[in-house]
Amino acid sequence: MNIIVTKDEQEMSQKAADLLQQRNKPESECVLGLATGGTPLGTYQELIRRYESGEMDFSNVTTLNLDEYVGVPKSHPQSYRSFMQENLFKHVNMDTRKAHIPDGQAVDLKEECARYEALIEEVGPPDIQLLGIGHNGHIGFNEPGSSFESETHVVELADSTREANARFFTSIEEVPTKAITMGIQSIMKAKKIVLIASGEKKADAIQKLLSQDVSEDFPASALHRHPDVTLIVDLAAYQTV
Ligand code: GLP
Repeated sequence: MNIIVTKDEQEMSQKAADLLQQRNKPESECVLGLATGGTPLGTYQELIRRYESGEMDFSNVTTLNLDEYVGVPKSHPQSYRSFMQENLFKHVNMDTRKAHIPDGQAVDLKEECARYEALIEEVGPPDIQLLGIGHNGHIGFNEPGSSFESETHVVELADSTREANARFFTSIEEVPTKAITMGIQSIMKAKKIVLIASGEKKADAIQKLLSQDVSEDFPASALHRHPDVTLIVDLAAYQTV
C-alpha cells in the first residue's frame, strides 16, 4: 500500500484528482469507480475545476458507483444518484447513460445485485476505484463481518453508519436501514484503488488500517491483499499513528 500524507483535506483532494486524471487518456474509454460521502466532495470539485479549465474531458468516461440506499427514490436529494448528479455529473461533459449506480428501488433486489455485478464485468472493472472509509472500517457499505468473497449484495446498515449519515437527512428515522453495495470482492476487481480519508474523526480507522491486520471485522483491511492501493490521508487523520 502506497501512503501519501497531505497537509490538509484540500491537498488530499488534489492528489486524488491527479490519480483519477492520470487514468483518463483521450484515446481510450476510462472507467472510474466512484464513491459518495463527504470525503470525496473536494475531489469532485477539483475534477469539475479541471474540466472547466479545459484540463480534463469526460466524454470517454464510464462510471460505476459503489452503492445506493434501498427504497430511496432516485430523485430524493439524498439518493446517491442525486448526490453524484449534483456534485459531479451535471457539471462535466459526461454521458450520464454511462454513469452506473445500483437501483435501490428495483422490485427484485437480488436480481438487481446480479445485474450490477454482471455490469461491473461488462463495462469494468474500473481503471481506478475511489474509496472513502467509515469509522468502523466499512468500504462501500460493507460493514464489519462482511465476507471478503462478497459480490454486490443488499446490506443492513450498522447503527453507527446510520448515525454518521444522519447529518445528510432531517432525522435519524429518515436514514434508510438497507443499501445495495458492491461487495469486497467486487471492489477488489478494480485495477487500482485509491482510498482517501481526512480529519481526526478518521484517525482511529486509519490507525487500524495501517496496523496491517487483515480481518473481516475491519472491511478496509482487505485492501492489503490488493496489488495497487494508494492511501491518501491528511495529517489530521494520520496524526495518532
Ligand atoms: C458512507 C458511504 C461510504 C463512505 C463512508 C464515509 O456510508 N457508503 O462509501 O466512504 O460512508 O463517509 P464520509 O466520507 O462522509 O465520512
